[in-house]
Amino acid sequence: MAKKNNIKLAIGGTTVFKLFLVVGIVLISIVFIWYTLDVIGQLKSDAEKMVASYVKLWQLAANDNTSGGEVQIIFDEVIKKANFPVVIAGLDHQPIFWRNIPNIEDNDPSPAARAKVIKLVEKMRHDYGEIPLKYNDQVISYFYYGDSPVISQLRRMPFIEIGLVLAFILIGFIGFQNIRRSEERHIWVGMAKETAHQLGTPISSLMGWIEILQSQCETGIPAAGNQPELNTAEITAQMKTDVDRLQRVANRFGQIGSRPELREIDLNKLLEDTGQYFRRRLPFEGKGIQINCHFSPLPVMAMNGELITWAVENLIKNALQAVDPEKGRIEINSAPAKDMKCVVIQVIDNGSGIPAAYARRLFRPGFTTKKRGWGLGLTLARRIVQEYHKGKIFLVRSKPGETVFQITLPVQEATKKKTT
Ligand SMILES: Nc1ncnc2c1ncn2[C@@H]1O[C@H](COP(=O)(O)OP(=O)(O)O)[C@@H](O)[C@H]1O
Ligand SMILES: [Mg+2]
Repeated sequence: MAKKNNIKLAIGGTTVFKLFLVVGIVLISIVFIWYTLDVIGQLKSDAEKMVASYVKLWQLAANDNTSGGEVQIIFDEVIKKANFPVVIAGLDHQPIFWRNIPNIEDNDPSPAARAKVIKLVEKMRHDYGEIPLKYNDQVISYFYYGDSPVISQLRRMPFIEIGLVLAFILIGFIGFQNIRRSEERHIWVGMAKETAHQLGTPISSLMGWIEILQSQCETGIPAAGNQPELNTAEITAQMKTDVDRLQRVANRFGQIGSRPELREIDLNKLLEDTGQYFRRRLPFEGKGIQINCHFSPLPVMAMNGELITWAVENLIKNALQAVDPEKGRIEINSAPAKDMKCVVIQVIDNGSGIPAAYARRLFRPGFTTKKRGWGLGLTLARRIVQEYHKGKIFLVRSKPGETVFQITLPVQEATKKKTT
């Protein structure tokens, strides 16, 4: 049971990661914003206390001085050092003095400046209220104040933070999208080429047989005329092999994308057949290459034979391309894991090896070091093994002279799949 959950987690890993990322970003933003708002709150209460003292001072000074003309001096002396915007308005709420207002000169008499100050007074009244200034217990004017520059900057902080986080997410999203698109492009091109490649061999072979049969019909001389070992029965048998191959190719492509059917199969036989298929092709690939199989008895398991063959073929093809045509050695091994919960398939070659720098990128769509490669073999193999069989495929180790790829297929998972 635990095993099953582990596998599920591994498959859903990217989704879990994305969720984790989003939740993380949201939490960080909330903490940032909360912290900023808290600092603003503290600064504001400090500012309010300060203003209260200013106002008290002002009133004290005003009450001590019988002359209303002192207002200007008190205003200058008491309020001078404050760095927050201050406006004194008359009983009619029209501004009389102001200072520290961003972009407006202190006490600028121009109508434009006045209009702006009047507008600002409304905002100040809304934010902090109005403080009546009294002289001999009579209200003589009103005092308004606004955010200090630090507070106004801090007020903008949450928006800047949210903007940055959103920009970050957007850039990440576009980046992901681009990677996905280019991967998709690779997959499309690769699939088209792979199809052409896989269909090419049996089709040209079939064309050859048809030509022989045609000349036999036209000339009346049996095809065996120049190649005595080829009678019509032989030719039809060969044609059947090619058609079978075409059928298999068609099946393979049909399986990709839909949920493939899993059946109990003899995996060792399947591996043996795959090895045999490549052995027959060795005269074209390299005469000195040997393909050897070492199989241990395996538990019965459900899988899609066509797709697993395809995955193993891709590993063998890579091995064939990596080894020396004269003394290449390829091994196809199978064995059950110690706990019998999975079977292990290894494809080992004594070829050029894979530089460590490439090892992480091997399974990415489009990654290839070959002139005529399209970097899809391992991607496809991984899709088949991981997505369709809930197994694992990875490079065990590689150095010049020894490269080991491994496929691990879970036994119970596959059998369960079949019975449900
Ligand atoms: N057995 C191997 N020996 C050396 N390099 C390998 C082997 N298998 C895979 N590679 C490397 O991995 C790359 C990707 O392989 P693959 O996905 O099959 O694409 P392709 O074969 O089209 O290049 C290859 O280009 C090669 O560099
Ligand atoms: Mg390949």
